[in-house]
Amino acid sequence: QTFFKPINHAAPPSPTKRHTKISVIGTGNVGMAIAQTILTQDFVEELALVDAKADKLRGEMLDLQHAAAFLPRTKILASVDYAVTAGSDLCIVTAGARQIAGESRLNLLQRNLSLFKAIIPPLVKYSPDCILLIVANPVDILTYVAWKLSGLPSNRVIGSGTNLDSSRFRFLLADHLDVNAQDVQAYIVGEHGDSSVALWSSISVGGVPILSFLEKQQIAYEKETLERIHKEVVDSAYEVISLKGYTSWAIGYSAANLARSILRDQRKIHPVSVLAKGFYGIDGGDVFLSLPAQLGRGGVLGVTNIHLNEEESHRLRNSAKTILEVQSQLGI
Ligand code: NAI
Ligand code: LAC
Repeated sequence: QTFFKPINHAAPPSPTKRHTKISVIGTGNVGMAIAQTILTQDFVEELALVDAKADKLRGEMLDLQHAAAFLPRTKILASVDYAVTAGSDLCIVTAGARQIAGESRLNLLQRNLSLFKAIIPPLVKYSPDCILLIVANPVDILTYVAWKLSGLPSNRVIGSGTNLDSSRFRFLLADHLDVNAQDVQAYIVGEHGDSSVALWSSISVGGVPILSFLEKQQIAYEKETLERIHKEVVDSAYEVISLKGYTSWAIGYSAANLARSILRDQRKIHPVSVLAKGFYGIDGGDVFLSLPAQLGRGGVLGVTNIHLNEEESHRLRNSAKTILEVQSQLGI
């Protein structure tokens, strides 16, 4: 007895929209913030969750499944076995140790490097055509590690990078200028970390370059104000971690935003960690750091050629140097 009386109808045309699958590796604070944000945005048919803790993993899966009545229909799977990720279009890697209060992201490298050696190969084995989106920290170096371990072309290995820092930057600028953060076009580039770079010279608000906007609005500013705002961005994670122990919601929205741009082929520009060698005078080695990049179904489609002033160029090359100094000790 079926629940409803089916009506005879011609077979539906073969779906033009392909079945889209995302796997999230690591179902801790960050992985679950990303997963639940993705579910509310209705752009995937299947979501697979992987973690090392089987009970926590199953609990998170059931808890999300129980929201089915309030969400777009999405098949949610979970397993400690990476086979559950087979056929993923996008694999988002959040598994790894996180900073304790006051600890820098770079301090996490050795612990998370060994995890990546166990995580990346099976992901590529089960989904050879996938795009990797790395979130675990230190995200720039771990994106380089994922690129080396996966053997995937660099356009399909992306780090969430300063997409999050740039959102923090836009929030602070919008608050300072009393405008909507979505009308503030502003990039933080370089390391997702202490050596990030604010591109002041290219910031615009509603299409108006910010520095002339401030002058027009007679909003007094000194270089110190700009530096203070950037310092507040750099200190954001440390402050939140000292208060709640970790960050999750903003990175959840940031990574889901990137996932949607990629899987829905939005061709949007995002500041994300890409193979930066050869761009903006960066040539000291294979280094991943954030540059404004166009993202679509093929991953990184291109890197924008924003004009940097001399100070911004110097700071960006310094950020690359900082990352390479740590990365060179890895021996991979
Ligand atoms: P968490 O400790 O809450 O979650 C980490 C999860 O990884 C745990 O559930 C753990 O069981 C799992 N895990 C550990 N080893 C694993 C393995 N071999 N296979 C599968 N799962 C494994 O940590 P949280 O707060 O979720 O942070 C995760 C990472 O994300 C950290 O490295 C943190 O620094 C980073 N992060 C990055 C941000 C960014 O903007 N790039 C922002 C916020 C956090
Ligand atoms: C952040 C750290 C945890 O929230 O990467 O920016």
